[in-house]
Amino acid sequence: MKFYIFLLSLNLAISENGFFGSQCDEGCVFAETVVITSESIKNFPSNCSRICANLEFNDNSNLSEIELLPMFQNLKELFGSLKFVNTNFESASFLASLAVIECDSGGFFKFENNQNMKEIGMKSLIRCVCDFEVSLAPKLEKLNFPLLKNFTHSSGNISQVEMSISNVSSNFCITFQEMQHFMMNENLFLKNFTGHFCKQPGKYCADVCEIESSNIYFRCEIMSGSIVVNSENQLISDALNTVKWIFGNLKIENTNMTKFHVLNSLEYVVSLDNSNAIEIVGNRELVEISIPNLKRVQTNQKRWLQIQGNNEKLTDFVIEQDQFCKTLTNYNGENQFVSEIDGKICDQQNSGGSNFGIIRISIIFIFSFFFTN
Ligand SMILES: *[C@@H]1O[C@H](CO)[C@@H](O)[C@H](O)[C@H]1NC(C)=O
Ligand SMILES: *[C@@H]1O[C@H](CO)[C@@H](O)[C@H](O)[C@H]1NC(C)=O
Ligand SMILES: *[C@@H]1O[C@H](CO)[C@@H](O)[C@H](O)[C@H]1NC(C)=O
Ligand SMILES: *[C@@H]1O[C@H](CO)[C@@H](O)[C@H](O)[C@H]1NC(C)=O
Ligand SMILES: *[C@@H]1O[C@H](CO)[C@@H](O)[C@H](O)[C@H]1NC(C)=O
Ligand SMILES: *[C@@H]1O[C@H](CO)[C@@H](O)[C@H](O)[C@H]1NC(C)=O
Ligand SMILES: *[C@@H]1O[C@H](CO)[C@@H](O)[C@H](O)[C@H]1NC(C)=O
Repeated sequence: MKFYIFLLSLNLAISENGFFGSQCDEGCVFAETVVITSESIKNFPSNCSRICANLEFNDNSNLSEIELLPMFQNLKELFGSLKFVNTNFESASFLASLAVIECDSGGFFKFENNQNMKEIGMKSLIRCVCDFEVSLAPKLEKLNFPLLKNFTHSSGNISQVEMSISNVSSNFCITFQEMQHFMMNENLFLKNFTGHFCKQPGKYCADVCEIESSNIYFRCEIMSGSIVVNSENQLISDALNTVKWIFGNLKIENTNMTKFHVLNSLEYVVSLDNSNAIEIVGNRELVEISIPNLKRVQTNQKRWLQIQGNNEKLTDFVIEQDQFCKTLTNYNGENQFVSEIDGKICDQQNSGGSNFGIIRISIIFIFSFFFTN
């Protein structure tokens, strides 16, 4: 019995050293969790650019952000974990030089109950391979992660990374740029991700169009707002053929078009509220539609697409097509969003794919039957 326990703990020690030891120079490694205080900072290797440690800032961290700034100005890469809990800090911008944070399995990058925090403010952070969570930060109005776009291990290994933001200021907003970076990573799962988009019409890029009603603008690549195609504007709906990003949602309702093939550029629809990302309803004449290049969708409800009350032929048309009748999953393969067509959830389990599986299994079974005889 003792022998097994010994083996087990040896194994753990090896894996820990493996992760830490292989990443950092001696002298830049901390084995235990370090709570940063005026005492512990004395042993902190401020001249290491790469540190292996589980760093924590909490209510015992009796140093101001200004005092911390010089201590962390050389820190570019952190392997381990990083936690801010019960601090009075207004931001984490004393870590503004940190470009990489990578966690071991079970590691995290977490902000919990920081009542004065206004922004995270890590402007150099490019790569984060940790589950990221912010909760209870009632003054938090922005992340300020302008460069964060890589969620892949230094080894090149890809695994699922989760991001969750809850109980922040009602003014909390995400920039289009931040959201574009996040959405382009298939392994990043935005869980409990609420808030709104920062107001930035026109400034981010000339092609941002903010839609208040059913006005349709020409030559936009990025549109924000609730975009509606209806009988009043359907004649100019071709204008949507340049749109790649929708920050908001898209509704095609009560038109009398028969075909709608203009959404050829559309790749991402990101809704931060509880509306359906895409809704196609009450188009009595519509028999054909396509969104051939749609890559990813984000919404805060289970449904990403609702198709309802159109021409019956449209139902037959879309039900056959994977681009509509599909469940979107996260990187782990867990169901994330479903599509609903005429009140029914599109269930891929009942379509072609898994029947193939059954046929394959029976062929293998038949073969193995012959061989064993
Ligand atoms: C800060 O906290 C450390 C550890 O709790 C303590 O040793 C030190 O005296 C404190 N310093 C001040 C200035 O309160
Ligand atoms: C860090 O600075 C100390 C002295 O302040 C020095 O002894 C040590 O070699 C330095 N380490 C690195 C990695 O530069
Ligand atoms: C993300 O970083 C990893 C590790 O440095 C690198 O291998 C990968 O190419 C980067 N991916 C992108 C999209 O920049
Ligand atoms: C990368 O992933 C593979 C397969 O999941 C695993 O065997 C390997 O240990 C991983 N490497 C690292 C450095 O995490
Ligand atoms: C977060 O806010 C919700 C209400 O918006 C509240 O029900 C919940 O208790 C809060 N969570 C925490 C951890 O305080
Ligand atoms: C996240 O959302 C799920 C359901 O959507 C809920 O059960 C869970 O409590 C939420 N977590 C947080 C931290 O808000
Ligand atoms: C479609 O609706 C528009 C506006 O309501 C109307 O002017 C037009 O005649 C209708 N077209 C057909 C084919 O019904």
